[in-house]
Amino acid sequence: MADHGVGISRPKPAPKIETRNVCKIYDTVSGPTTVVDDFSLDVADGEFVCIVGPSGCGKSTYLRMLAGLDTHSSGSIYIRPGDDPTKPLNSVVFQEYAVFPWKTVIENVAFGLQMRGVGKAERLQVADHWLERVGLRKFAHYYPSEISGGMKQRVSIIRALANDPEVLLMDEPLGALDAQTRIVLQAELLRIWQETRKTVVFITHSLDEAILLGDRVVLMAAHPGRLLASFPIDIARPRTVETMNTPQFAELRGAIWSQLSREVTRAMEMQA
Ligand SMILES: Nc1ncnc2c1ncn2[C@@H]1O[C@H](COP(=O)(O)OP(=O)(O)OP(=O)(O)O)[C@@H](O)[C@H]1O
Ligand SMILES: [Mg+2]
Repeated sequence: MADHGVGISRPKPAPKIETRNVCKIYDTVSGPTTVVDDFSLDVADGEFVCIVGPSGCGKSTYLRMLAGLDTHSSGSIYIRPGDDPTKPLNSVVFQEYAVFPWKTVIENVAFGLQMRGVGKAERLQVADHWLERVGLRKFAHYYPSEISGGMKQRVSIIRALANDPEVLLMDEPLGALDAQTRIVLQAELLRIWQETRKTVVFITHSLDEAILLGDRVVLMAAHPGRLLASFPIDIARPRTVETMNTPQFAELRGAIWSQLSREVTRAMEMQA
């Protein structure tokens, strides 16, 4: 009998990140406080997921738990390793410029590779390649105090990428930049991601940034931090910052904002 493929579904590839029913309870002066509650999120290999939510809803706490920088109180978190066991599972980029002031730009970019025991010639070659990709090659031997905030954050981002981690975790990486530099770095992130297709979890307060960059935007509810909604962003790639001016973008922004604004108001009322 002919097989028309009806009813045959291909098995879904295993997620790169599996977060199951995660809770985080902090001991505070007013007793144990649940800041992340029953949070479940799968991220596919090569997916760019953006998380938005009111201030204090637990976004950074979740990211720190993903990165292994903080423990979870219950539930499970798993990052699926790749074929190369020498690759780090994750690299993190924070809002603050986490660059070493006593190292030059190229030494900063090569730092993760140095930690992994990669030889000097090879790590400088990899770092040089990344500096070239973001137009920072001529600043390779400058110290962080001699370059701008935007450049420092570029250095943090390419240092994480030079590590070639299984997943890239970013907590408001562009949050401290002025509006123009932020747009330039958004465009750069779009371009780099389109070339590397890394699995990314990206936290931002900017809904526009989340929609521009993400394959999916996840909303977190406040007090305690729970998953509120997940919006697929089916805007075609390659995207550019001009994508933000399209009707499809405006429609998505409207739909997500109506839920996010309600949650932000609720969180503010709870704090009042
Ligand atoms: N070490 C800690 N001990 C106790 N409470 C903490 C600790 N770290 C964070 N919290 C609390 O956990 C909650 C979530 O904090 P978190 O920093 O994860 O929020 P966030 O969503 O990243 O906020 P923002 O958008 O402002 O960065 C907050 O209420 C915060 O006060
Ligand atoms: Mg935070």
